[in-house]
Amino acid sequence: MGKNTVSFDFRDSRVVVTGASGGLGSAIAAAFAGAGASVALHYRSGRDRAEAVIAGLPSPGRHVAVGAEATSESEVALAVGRVREWAGGDGVDVLVNNAGTYPASPILELDAAAFSGVVDSSLLAAHLFTRGLAPLMAPGSSIVNVASVEAHRPARGHAHYAAAKAAMVQYTRSCALELARLGIRVNCLSPGLLWRDDLPAAWPTGYAAWTASCPAGRAGRPEEFAAACLFLASGSASFVNGAELIADGGALCVSPQDPATWSAVR
Ligand SMILES: NC(=O)c1ccc[n+]([C@@H]2O[C@H](COP(=O)([O-])OP(=O)(O)OC[C@H]3O[C@@H](n4cnc5c(N)ncnc54)[C@H](OP(=O)(O)O)[C@@H]3O)[C@@H](O)[C@H]2O)c1
Repeated sequence: MGKNTVSFDFRDSRVVVTGASGGLGSAIAAAFAGAGASVALHYRSGRDRAEAVIAGLPSPGRHVAVGAEATSESEVALAVGRVREWAGGDGVDVLVNNAGTYPASPILELDAAAFSGVVDSSLLAAHLFTRGLAPLMAPGSSIVNVASVEAHRPARGHAHYAAAKAAMVQYTRSCALELARLGIRVNCLSPGLLWRDDLPAAWPTGYAAWTASCPAGRAGRPEEFAAACLFLASGSASFVNGAELIADGGALCVSPQDPATWSAVR
């Protein structure tokens, strides 16, 4: 983090993070817990990972792991019931719709199941959790949807993913419009490339291209995206509604004509 950072206070807040068994979701869950929140960490297959994240959080007994296939109405309904029991009469203060997958496939090889699998794991999942949890959210609470820079600039092989994330930005605006009557703000975080320790080895060409062209010259650290998420969810963003916060180190500013120029003047 740079100079002059702010810290957020989420004491007495109950936060639900979907996809919290994964890289970004676990970082977001950790940031909320570090700011004093009690967190429900949603997972699909990664129960052990979600429980390991909880074990490393402050006051682990306050947090809970909740499993669900997020594209299934019945499984999300059960997860919502579990969250209701955990939150009790206090309800939920923040929902972060972070779950999603991003396997690559050329358009001409993309069949219906692969297409809707990616769209649904992100967009439908966000809708099902929003529909289920918004009734538990009091005025002043907030939802953050995780989209991507690919909502604006798709990568090859990501037609389904980029379309889903562009739709997530617009879904966010629709939710802001309709949930305002409940006093719920809804915003969207669009991250650029997320750093993982195995990233350079797992995706050498993509990683090299990103670092060469992104003005920041690097991938974003999980805690940097988490900080942007906490800002959107916090009272400091009380007049920010239906907005998209792009956290990409400036990647979307780069002209496709000459990205090398940008990295040269960095
Ligand atoms: N990584 C990046 O560079 C990047 C950049 C921009 C945006 N994003 C977005 O950030 C979010 C998190 O990405 P990540 O890199 O942290 O991914 P990740 O490590 O692969 O984690 C994905 C999470 O989503 C859950 N999930 C996936 N499909 C699901 C389904 N059908 N039902 C329920 N849960 C499901 C996974 O659960 P299980 O593992 O338990 O099955 C896991 O917790 C995604 O929305 C992604 O599109 C990522």
